[in-house]
Amino acid sequence: MKTTVAILLAAGSGSRMKSSEKKQYMLLGNKPILYYALQALENSYVSRIFLVVNEGEEDRVQKEYVEKYGFSKVAAIIAGGNERYHSVIKGLEAAEHRRTAKGEAYDRVLIQDSARPFLTPEILQRVSDTLDTHPACVVGMPVKDTIKIADESGFVDHTPNRNLVWAVQTPQAFSYDLALSAYRILREREQELLDQGMVITDDAMVVETLTDTRIKLVEGSYDNIKITTPEDLITAEKILDSLKGSLIR
Ligand code: CTP
Ligand code: MG
Repeated sequence: MKTTVAILLAAGSGSRMKSSEKKQYMLLGNKPILYYALQALENSYVSRIFLVVNEGEEDRVQKEYVEKYGFSKVAAIIAGGNERYHSVIKGLEAAEHRRTAKGEAYDRVLIQDSARPFLTPEILQRVSDTLDTHPACVVGMPVKDTIKIADESGFVDHTPNRNLVWAVQTPQAFSYDLALSAYRILREREQELLDQGMVITDDAMVVETLTDTRIKLVEGSYDNIKITTPEDLITAEKILDSLKGSLIR
């Protein structure tokens, strides 16, 4: 049996949600958004969850979310950073700290956005099956719209073949050593990469750009949305209703 750990990202301010409450704590159904991904991971093959939150929110999250709902796999609650990839590095370093302190062996790591509440056992199974044969994979779906790549002046530069364009989601999952080493390279070369204009928005990019490993795409679900703007929350309520019974609650 492979040991899989999860980094669950719940830092960030949710600026595009434009609400007074940070989006990870807003209610969906009658539970905080953060609850759903935690619950999906708690009821999965994942052994330990490293939960990354905004600095200063660690105690509140421990009491009001982890203890209240009885999540037993949360091994640490860690302060995140300014950018998503900073939060990932902090989560990975906390996992590594625990691994060495306790002499544990971690084979795989799965990185999940708390803003994606509709992580299902089926998606988690496809990720695990893919990692049996590939060191890196990312969940996503083929796009339905035709995508245009624009130039800096807002004109169409070119149109990629729609059959080859995927919108990626989370989980993004890797062999543990690969993720740790790719993110450590990123930490060292961050300024140089930013100066080159790199905009780091997901984990696969880090592995794609800084290692030779190819990333396998895995089928996610069109319901596996990220809650980003207020209208996404309305869509999420509808998805929640339609999934009742099939989500582990
Ligand atoms: N995230 C994080 N640390 C950050 C930024 C984001 O852990 N510094 C997490 C969020 O909690 C979210 C996921 O990464 O689950 C995806 O990020 P996004 O949807 O962009 O969340 P925010 O950055 O909080 O929102 P916005 O970009 O609208 O401000
Ligand atoms: Mg963001």
